[in-house]
Amino acid sequence: MNKFQLSLLLLVAICNLMTGRTSAMYHIVGAKLGWNIPPNKTYYQDWAKSRVFSVEDKLLFAFRSPLHNVVEVGKDDFDECKQENLIYTYSSGPLIVNFTMPGDHYYYSGVGIQCELGQKLHVPVVSRKGSSGRNSKTL
Ligand SMILES: *[C@@H]1O[C@H](CO)[C@@H](O)[C@H](O)[C@H]1NC(C)=O
Ligand SMILES: *[C@@H]1O[C@H](CO)[C@@H](O)[C@H](O)[C@H]1NC(C)=O
Repeated sequence: MNKFQLSLLLLVAICNLMTGRTSAMYHIVGAKLGWNIPPNKTYYQDWAKSRVFSVEDKLLFAFRSPLHNVVEVGKDDFDECKQENLIYTYSSGPLIVNFTMPGDHYYYSGVGIQCELGQKLHVPVVSRKGSSGRNSKTL
């Protein structure tokens, strides 16, 4: 590794520290795909797996109503694409969700069979201080 690579690496490490510790992160759900019908059923799960969601972070669901929406439910409803204990329906996009407390959040699109097609997302939110929850495996 030469000097340039080393300093680049350092810079990245410092940036990571700064974004991880001091400022809230914006997570654009699904990255370039946005909030859409995914190419396969594990797409959003894979997207979420590589990230840490902390209190004070924001989630941006990029979609246009009424093509999609965002419903928040509990785990049981999430697993079966049901709405027996619906927590909230966000019908207009783009939507910004703000996390104020640690805990698990379960979202899916309640339009048609989009949930069944994999447009669903589990977000484990960890507390900011001493967040060791780098890979919470509670899927
Ligand atoms: C799902 O689609 C994404 C994006 O096209 C791809 O990167 C990923 O490997 C796919 N996963 C499976 C299980 O096919
Ligand atoms: C989250 O906060 C932003 C401002 O930072 C606000 O525009 C947005 O409506 C909030 N989201 C919800 C769901 O309240």
